[in-house]
Amino acid sequence: MSKPTRHESAIGHVTGRATYVDEQHPPQGQLSLYPVQAPHAHARILEIDAEVASAMPGVVAVLTAADIPGANNTGAIVHDEPVMPADFVSFHGQAVAWVVAESEAQAAAAAKAVRIHYAPLPAIVDVPAAVAANAFHLPPVKVERGDVVSGLANAPHRTHGELMIGGQDHFYLETQTCWAQVDSEGIVQVTASTQHPSETQHMVAHVLGIASHRVVCRCLRMGGGFGGKETQANPFATVAALAAWKTGRPARVKLHRALDMQLTGKRHPFFARFEVGFNDDGLILAARIDLIADGGWSVDLSPPVLMRAMVHVDNAYFIPQIEVTGRIAKTNLASNTAFRGFGGPQGMVVGEEIIDRVARFLGLPVDQVRERNFYREGEQPDRNQTHYGQPVVDNVLPELWAQLRTSSDYAARRTEIDAFNRQHPQVKRGLAITPVKFGISFNKTEYNQAGALVHIYIDGSVQLNHGGTEMGQGLHTKMLVVAAKTLGVAQSRLQIMVTSTDKVPNTSATAASSGSDLNGQALKAACETLKARMATVAAASLGGDANAVVFAHDRVFLNDRPDHSLAFEDVVRATYNARISLSATGYYRTPGLSWDPKLGRGHPFYYFAVGAAVCEVEVCAYTGVHRLLRADLLHDVGETMAEEIDRGQIEGGFVQGMGWLTNEELRWNAQGRLLTDAPSTYKIPTVGDVPIDFRVDLFRRSKPPSTNVIFHSKGVGEPPLMLAIAVREAIRDAVAAFGDARCVELAAPSTPEAIYNAIQKVRGG
Ligand code: MTE
Ligand code: MOS
Repeated sequence: MSKPTRHESAIGHVTGRATYVDEQHPPQGQLSLYPVQAPHAHARILEIDAEVASAMPGVVAVLTAADIPGANNTGAIVHDEPVMPADFVSFHGQAVAWVVAESEAQAAAAAKAVRIHYAPLPAIVDVPAAVAANAFHLPPVKVERGDVVSGLANAPHRTHGELMIGGQDHFYLETQTCWAQVDSEGIVQVTASTQHPSETQHMVAHVLGIASHRVVCRCLRMGGGFGGKETQANPFATVAALAAWKTGRPARVKLHRALDMQLTGKRHPFFARFEVGFNDDGLILAARIDLIADGGWSVDLSPPVLMRAMVHVDNAYFIPQIEVTGRIAKTNLASNTAFRGFGGPQGMVVGEEIIDRVARFLGLPVDQVRERNFYREGEQPDRNQTHYGQPVVDNVLPELWAQLRTSSDYAARRTEIDAFNRQHPQVKRGLAITPVKFGISFNKTEYNQAGALVHIYIDGSVQLNHGGTEMGQGLHTKMLVVAAKTLGVAQSRLQIMVTSTDKVPNTSATAASSGSDLNGQALKAACETLKARMATVAAASLGGDANAVVFAHDRVFLNDRPDHSLAFEDVVRATYNARISLSATGYYRTPGLSWDPKLGRGHPFYYFAVGAAVCEVEVCAYTGVHRLLRADLLHDVGETMAEEIDRGQIEGGFVQGMGWLTNEELRWNAQGRLLTDAPSTYKIPTVGDVPIDFRVDLFRRSKPPSTNVIFHSKGVGEPPLMLAIAVREAIRDAVAAFGDARCVELAAPSTPEAIYNAIQKVRGG
């Protein structure tokens, strides 16, 4: 039996025995698909000639838009996303057709032989070009408070700036994968690496032109999702299902790495422009911020990603007068999508950029300016109110911040680093402390619901079904903890079942860090229902009141007579004999949420996750190379349900965020072809980039969170990614030490080249 906090598949992960979608036994006669990719970023499709390809060895079909029986669309919000385009190519490498063959090699060979005639069109391949062409998806959106015009005009000081923030490839270890089969009853059985099985089910039904009840989508586990499989698993599932539907044989899609990187969207690059007014103390009085997200060719999840950026530009800071405007650039690139933090990180990088500009303008220590601008409870009543109208409930950040300053020895290290820097002209060290405040819940209120289905069998064993998906984050492990705790049984009695749309319907994506909050509550509700039923049976046998029945240590007893107990399985058997159902559903919806997307106002988050990080770096002036010498992370998870899992999320999220802000650089050529489509050219962090001195701690709370989260735990999936902003700010601090500039411009990501250029600028070179 594994320890309760160990990941339920930990041994499978390290031995390779945990199976992923494409490692399950292939059904007999399974076919493979391979895409025919467009060589233009934007073009009209004149003719598709598949005659030669169709006659090649092993080829069973060549699928094009004309083969789609239902709707040729997988757009989640706007119906602008054809599975295969009929008329126009919208990005370089787009799949215009899919070859279906006995083997993947045969499909790939035949894909080269499909002849497509195009009329190339001018393409827009970056944000500046989109702005120049006025190419945007949807109208601009705004979130504002107060009168920013007079706020800026009356501020003692003003500064302004702009910043381009790069995107990020998800680089999940398991690329996009799906297989599909039509069973003997005509039900389409889809097994997909998807964060959103219900949406995958609905999209497959939609594309095949059948009702959702004829499609089942399953997902046991993903080898990582990170937001990249929230919507973008759907197109691949629909083509696999289409191939199965057309040929009557099972069919699979499994992208190799380069294809995955070319075909799927990434974290949105953002362009930001800001103007800020402040006083002598560095208190921000007013800010006007313009954000432009690079949406790519289709809308996908860009509107909510942009909105999350807009409601996170404040990060942990109170800005009394503020106007945030957001737009989505329409470019001929793969469609950008959810990525851990969902726009929040980009918004917060802008917020921290602003704070740094203000502090250096005034010559004040940056950490002091950060602290002064914090949201705070108690003082002026509205100093704890966000610009979208929600109070910062349970605001423990000032306390957490103080703890981290002490535990990281911030003040003494500041002095040491300044002394080091005076002695080293070509190598400088930098230190920064940055906060994270991240809203937990989907902005879209209706997504904040979940279901579960629990069966107890007459031998006393229990099957758990919930609507969430496992992508390595440990959701299944936490669900085992919830059920074991609620039923008072050992985890060895429990079996987590594959997530399946025929067990729990109409689920939300496992996303927004709310997987364990939502599914945990639903699962708990199902277990409570079963317990209440069994309690009446146990009470009769124990001679007491059902309300006094306790379930613990695999036994059932009355709370005032623990010595006289029944075995859990005996109560199960007695409940069955009494003809009482041992199967129950559970359901949960997060209370008290509201959001008006038109006004950009409401109470969209159930609570905020908070944390802070101190990072120390060393930067070399000759090469621009930096090293992260030490990182101290302190993060609030409430009361942890699985400490090892939470620590893993904090460490992993931080390292992933660090990769985004330092090494990972996406490059396209002028024709819109992605040049960085392999690990040789796209540098994700490796074990060598993890700080040697890495101190991760859970914030020890003096009281549990004020909101009623499952077992007082807090969502931890995304927030730690933004702790990595401390790496960026530490690099900036080191760069600043090369000169005495009142403004340090640093590109994101801060690659060696970017750092080198920033040093030259600070030195006035
Ligand atoms: N951790 C691992 N190992 N793999 C992942 O794909 N995805 C992240 C985060 N942590 C991810 C991960 C993202 S984007 C989200 S939204 C959450 O996990 C989703 O899971 P949760 O809601 O259960 O925390
Ligand atoms: Mo996570 S970006 O909400 O899947």
